[in-house]
Amino acid sequence: MAVFNLTINGKKHQVDVDPTTPILWVLRDHLNLVGTKYGCGMAMCGACTIHLDGVAMRSCSLPVAQVSNQKITTIEGLSENGDHPLQKAWIEHDVPQCGYCQTGQIMSAAALLKDNPKPSDEEIDAAMHGNICRCGTYIRIKAAIKTAARSAKSGTKGGGGGVQKMTKTKIASSRRSFLKNTLFAGGGIVIGFDWLAQQNLAAAKDSLALPKEWYDFNAFLKIGDNGLVTIFTPNPEFGQNVMTSMPMIVAEELDVDWKDVRVEMAMHDPAKFPNAAFGQFTGGSRGIPSKWDALRKAGATGRQMLREAAAKAWQVPVEEITTANSVLQHSSGKKATYGEMAAAAAQIPVPKEVKLKAVKDFKIIGTSQKNVEGPKIVTGKPLFGVDYKVEGMLIAMIVHPPAFGMKLKSFNDASVKGMPGIKDVFSFKTYNDGQEKGGFDTNAFPELVAIVGNSTWEVMNAKKAIKAEWEPFATYTETVAGFGGKKAR
Ligand code: FES
Ligand code: FES
Repeated sequence: MAVFNLTINGKKHQVDVDPTTPILWVLRDHLNLVGTKYGCGMAMCGACTIHLDGVAMRSCSLPVAQVSNQKITTIEGLSENGDHPLQKAWIEHDVPQCGYCQTGQIMSAAALLKDNPKPSDEEIDAAMHGNICRCGTYIRIKAAIKTAARSAKSGTKGGGGGVQKMTKTKIASSRRSFLKNTLFAGGGIVIGFDWLAQQNLAAAKDSLALPKEWYDFNAFLKIGDNGLVTIFTPNPEFGQNVMTSMPMIVAEELDVDWKDVRVEMAMHDPAKFPNAAFGQFTGGSRGIPSKWDALRKAGATGRQMLREAAAKAWQVPVEEITTANSVLQHSSGKKATYGEMAAAAAQIPVPKEVKLKAVKDFKIIGTSQKNVEGPKIVTGKPLFGVDYKVEGMLIAMIVHPPAFGMKLKSFNDASVKGMPGIKDVFSFKTYNDGQEKGGFDTNAFPELVAIVGNSTWEVMNAKKAIKAEWEPFATYTETVAGFGGKKAR
């Protein structure tokens, strides 16, 4: 271990780490700057791009000992408030899908524009070709770079031309390291928390202040006394954008103005979100179909309670109350915003049946709305499962056999356990002996080895050092039970 003094985003930091630790893991594990992402670990995907003295570099392949005298800029330091021309253009073009690659994309683009404020299409392609987007957002990325270039003020705090140096970094990565590092390449799981920090895109242009009082209508929505509406997304966000699409369905039936909507990821709660078939589930393109009715009814229920409250207040039949864009109205000229009627509406008994809109009347469903997570994505806020830490959390990695149909013979746990930062090494079975796989079981191997340690880099080193021996099963049969019954494979 050694002490390093680092200057990151204009601030001084001191870390005591193994000198070979890539700066990526110093940023993520030791300084909690998680906007810089891990993708390949071998300078080939660009997810980890940072600026070193204004030059774009791949942080996964730069040992901290090599960079301690340079000024480091990460996505968190690219701008004060997410207002770098590229970040604004990224939002304007709604570039991110899952968002995992986007901070690296923005850092590479910032370096390009710093050196070349008016790049041609070919120059953009050349500068960005090492940044991979598994969601395929390349066309929007290019459009956003051109928009940012046109906005003229392309100065960046940490920008700099890094195309040549990045190419050198990539060349330094060997075939051997490619193969080894592929074993721990991975993506992330998008998890949304804390709507206050979330900044719905609509809010950026027309922000409502926080309400003094919230009124709960059902598990999917609450309305503030100032008209702000929070819609809870029941299903986990895995980059498929249910954080945006599910609230759109509720908002449609509520007849709320989309700019008044904030989104929050609901906690897992089977009592609040009952669904015998799928529950709070993501997979198989079943999220929207499985929640379609519940989301619509939740919005329509809220709307009906607001209408009944207005009818009661104005002493008119509820059928005569219409709604549009967060406003209740009667032909007599009486009007009230949802915020003004929220307190009274929350007291109305929840209707058992509600009338849903006709498809021809949809105003939000079927439109394109921007990813509500966009502002968090482009500023590198914690958003993915790998970005979160809890007190005392350790890092674990799995060692698996080189082929299907193999079982663990032995591994050198004693020597690996003695490595720096390693807490435990053990094998575990993913199935009990004799157990048959179900239709959705994705475990490919019956027994695996786990390495647990303090930091990602220490566990990675232990994983490289471990010598696990695997052997074929004498006989190997696997059955699949699921749709269509059991069958031998
Ligand atoms: S994680 Fe560094 S380039 Fe892929
Ligand atoms: S990997 Fe680029 S947005 Fe998902």
